[in-house]
Amino acid sequence: MPNLTYIEANGTAHTVQANEGTNLMEIAVANLIPGILGDCGGSCSCATCHTYVDPGWMACVPAATDEELEILDGALDVRENSRLACQVFMSNALDGLIVRIPERQF
Ligand code: FES
Repeated sequence: MPNLTYIEANGTAHTVQANEGTNLMEIAVANLIPGILGDCGGSCSCATCHTYVDPGWMACVPAATDEELEILDGALDVRENSRLACQVFMSNALDGLIVRIPERQF
């Protein structure tokens, strides 16, 4: 089972195991990771699952869709490596992935 690490804005790291095909928002909520809210349940409409993919992993993560980019526009402090966690799905290719959580979602 692949694992990934969420790093909170204060530097606290949480490494968890995840099933393939599960999105990073669902994994975070299931593991009680602070700072990823997922208010819309993963329907790509709230941006409360905003995360920063570690730059070293950006090339491994499938590109964002136009829909995701549109919703990301409404997030705070959007960066080049911003992604909505509900739109990134765990896979063996992402084993060891690192994502950082913004200081706040809104
Ligand atoms: S959970 Fe709402 S956009 Fe990701």
